[in-house]
Parts: sequence; structure tokens; C-alpha cells
Amino acid sequence: MDKQAHMSIESPVSSTLHFHDYHPVLDDFKAEVLSGLSRASRQLSPKFFYDRKGSELFDAITELPEYYPTRTEIGILQEHGEAIADLLGQNCLLLELGSGSSKKIRVLLDAIKPAVYMPVDISREHLLGSAEALAADYPALEVHAVCADYTTDFDLPCCPDHLPRVVFFPGSSIGNFEPSRALELLRRMAHHLEEGGRMLIGVDLKKDVELLHAAYNDSQQLTAAFNRNMLHRINWELDADFDVQAFSHHAFYNEPEGRVEMHLVSNKAQAVTVAGQLFEFAAGETIHTENSYKYSVEEFQSLAEAAGFVPEKVWTDDDKLFSVHCIRLLKRGQCLQ
Ligand SMILES: C[S@@+](CC[C@H](N)C(=O)[O-])C[C@H]1O[C@@H](n2cnc3c(N)ncnc32)[C@H](O)[C@@H]1O
Repeated sequence: MDKQAHMSIESPVSSTLHFHDYHPVLDDFKAEVLSGLSRASRQLSPKFFYDRKGSELFDAITELPEYYPTRTEIGILQEHGEAIADLLGQNCLLLELGSGSSKKIRVLLDAIKPAVYMPVDISREHLLGSAEALAADYPALEVHAVCADYTTDFDLPCCPDHLPRVVFFPGSSIGNFEPSRALELLRRMAHHLEEGGRMLIGVDLKKDVELLHAAYNDSQQLTAAFNRNMLHRINWELDADFDVQAFSHHAFYNEPEGRVEMHLVSNKAQAVTVAGQLFEFAAGETIHTENSYKYSVEEFQSLAEAAGFVPEKVWTDDDKLFSVHCIRLLKRGQCLQ
């Protein structure tokens, strides 16, 4: 059992809602920010976007006309909900990783009828608020909300363990990881499943560059605010003095790498202090804050196979913007490459 598992604190919120807090971020935020800013190519992990404000901004982004992924994935889940439920089966323990507002799962709940829903997210207040709203709307459903970092090992809280487990990983969050790390993450997620267990995963597809550019450079500049919020958060939580407006949002499709990159560009030569450490930025120097890899259906299926899964079924929208894959765990820890 790892460190996080020992630190979980359970609070019953109501008779059907339980909150389990593994206290992610506390230990590693400062260390990761200092090391990321010290690198020759400065880099911060996108998991640090999500404090309360960052989660609110992300929810607003999902409503933007340019941001096709959320409405397209929801459309696929709505259209194929029955077929998805037939594959996943009922009365399962449904584990959602990076659950955010728990909006997408609502499309599937009536069809899947899980015995337990377990949303996992790093953004504590947002997770609790979303879980409370969902528990109020589904009073018969047992909800165990887990505040944890899904890139680390953590044991699922004690709740009926005879139930078959299903993992839901929507939003193309897998695209935030370089392919070798995405492979590692899928293998890590396999530890939450029994052999033969299924994962439903949303993956953004390769597409026209202009559509991608618009999605990450919206006219209301909400994505820019979301990106810059990382610096506000560092200022608040790590006693830093970033002049946030002196950094610009920059997002573009890196075709050879098959990914959208988000950066914060220093508009001038400037010095910033973070947790007592001084960092000097040249004009034009960037902090790389996010990658969003785009996959073809075949590329993602190869990745899933390498992680020990069998691709069972894939659904896409008519415009081939987004894909939802059902993959089944063949053998845990097995590398098929
Ligand atoms: C791109 S949003 C997707 C939200 C929602 N699943 C959707 O599809 O719209 C990513 C979500 O994952 C959460 N998240 C990001 N990194 C995480 C991590 N390492 N561990 C747990 N949750 C994480 C964020 O707080 C956020 O709610």
C-alpha cells in the first residue's frame, strides 16, 4: 500500500454519499513547480490547472461553440448509450477518473444502473460539489467520491468489492500524456480492474488543423484565462509574484508530434520569485503547460493493446471528430508489444 492509501480520510456526507480524501497535490505542488521551472525547457503539469477557479473555467470552456470535444463526446454517449450499457453490464462499480462536473456520466447512469458510482478527481471542492449534486439527483445510487491523483497508486476505498468494476475515462484526458506515459497510465488503470474488466475511454481524433486551432484559441479567451490561472494559483499557493498579464497564451498544433501544445509566453525579460527561488525569463521564453495528443482510431487501439487491453468496440460521430472506445483487460501488467 502506498503513502496516499494510508492518508485517506473518509467523511460520510449523507447516507448515500461518502467522501474519501487522499490529499493529492499538497506534497508535490511546490516540488514539481520548482523543478518544472528550473528545466531548460520550462514545463508545468496540466494537473495543476485544476484548483476551484481552474475547474470553473474548464466547465465554461466546455460550453464554447469552438470547443467541439465535450458536446461531441456527449452526443456519442447519447446515441450509443444502450449499446454501451449492453457491453458494460449493470450493477457494476463504476469508477470515473478525472470526473470533473460528472456531467457525461449522467448520460449513461440510467442505462448502466451501477450499484456504486466512484468519481475520482484531483480538484477537491469541485469534486465534492459535483458529487453532492449527482447524489441529490440519484438518491438511490451509492456514491463514493475520491479526491486523489490518478497518476499515482491509490487503493480504492472499501465498498462492496464483489461488484464487477468498470472504468470510465472521458474527455480525452489520455491525450495529456506523452505516448509512453499514456501507456504507463493505462497499465496503472488496469490495476483497478479484474481481468476481463472493461474501460470506456474518450479519445480525441486527428483532424483539420483549423478546427483544432479554434478549439484552443477561443474568441472569448476563456482558454487563455484557464492557461494563465496556473500562474495565479502559483502566486496564491506558493507565495510567488508572477505578473500574470505579462504572459500570453499560445496554443498550436504540432503536426509531427500529433499534439496541440499550450504554452505561456513571457512578453518581456522579467524575473519571478516562487517559494523564495528566483527565475529569470527572457522575452519570448515559454512555459509549456499542456499537450493534447490526437489519435487515429488505429493508433489508440495499438496503444491499448500494448497496455494489455483488447479493443472491443469504438464509436465515433459522423464528422469523425471524437472517438469513444470500449477496451477489455486481457491480462493485468502484460505488455503485448
Ligand atoms: C479535461 S477535464 C475533463 C473533465 C470531465 N471528465 C470531462 O470529460 O469533461 C480533466 C479533469 O480531470 C481532473 N484531473 C486532471 N488531472 C488529474 C489527476 N492527475 N488526477 C485526478 N484528476 C485529475 C481535473 O480536475 C478535471 O476535472
